[in-house]
Amino acid sequence: MKKILVCNQKMFLTYDEAKDLRKKIDEIDFSNTNLIICPSYLNFDAFNGYELGSQNCFYEDKGSFTGEVSAYDLSLRGIKYSLIGHFERRGYDTDEVINLKVKAALRNSITPIICIGETKLDRELRRTSKIIKTQLFKALSNIKLEDNQEIIIAYEPAWVIGGKDTMKLNEIEDAFGYITKLLEEIGITSYKLIYGGSVTSKNISSIISDRIDGYLLGSSSVDEDELNEIVKCIK
Ligand code: PGA
Repeated sequence: MKKILVCNQKMFLTYDEAKDLRKKIDEIDFSNTNLIICPSYLNFDAFNGYELGSQNCFYEDKGSFTGEVSAYDLSLRGIKYSLIGHFERRGYDTDEVINLKVKAALRNSITPIICIGETKLDRELRRTSKIIKTQLFKALSNIKLEDNQEIIIAYEPAWVIGGKDTMKLNEIEDAFGYITKLLEEIGITSYKLIYGGSVTSKNISSIISDRIDGYLLGSSSVDEDELNEIVKCIK
C-alpha cells in the first residue's frame, strides 16, 4: 500500500514562496505516495491540482465567528482533509472543541487527520498511555463512521515536534499497537495510522514499517530536497 505523506506547511511560507515551492515539487515523483498538502488558507491555490488538506477547521458551518474558516466552506473549495488537534493548536482548542471539529469534518466529507500525542512531561511522569487514551476517546466521542468514511490518526508526540531526533521504531510501534487496541474498543475500524515529529531524510529509513501507514511532515515538507529524499526512501 502507498504510504500517506501529509505535508503540514504550518505558517512557513508566504504566497510567493509557496508558488516557488510548488514549481520545485512538481519535479518530484510522488507516484508511490498518497500526498496530502496542507498549506496555509491563503496558499491553497498555489497547490491547485494536488490533494489538499487544511491545518484546522471550524465546526459551525456559517455565522458570527470572526477569523474562523468552516469545514463546510473548506469542503466547497475541494478540501478533502483537515488536521485537527495538532499540538500547536491544542492550547486554543479543548478536547470538546476537537470532537466538534472531527464531527464537522466528517459531516462535510472531509477526512479528519486527528493529531494525538503526549508532552515530554507526560512521558517523564509515565502518563503517555493515559494521555493517548483521553485524547483519542474524547476526539472520537459519539462518532460512528458511515461506510464511506475514514479517519487518519496522526501519532505525533509534542516532544519530538520541531527537533532533530525522532522516535525509535519500536517506540512508535508500541504506541500504534496501543492506539489500534483503543480504536477496536470503540468500534472504529476504518482508519489509517500515521506518525509525525521531526521526520527528515536522515531518519526516515529507520522508521519505515508495514505498521505505519504514513508520515506527517512539518519542516521537511517545505524543503524540496528533503521531500525528494524522503519520497525516495519510502518507495
Ligand atoms: P516537524 O513538524 O516535522 O517539523 O517536527 C511536524 C508537525 O508539527 O506536524
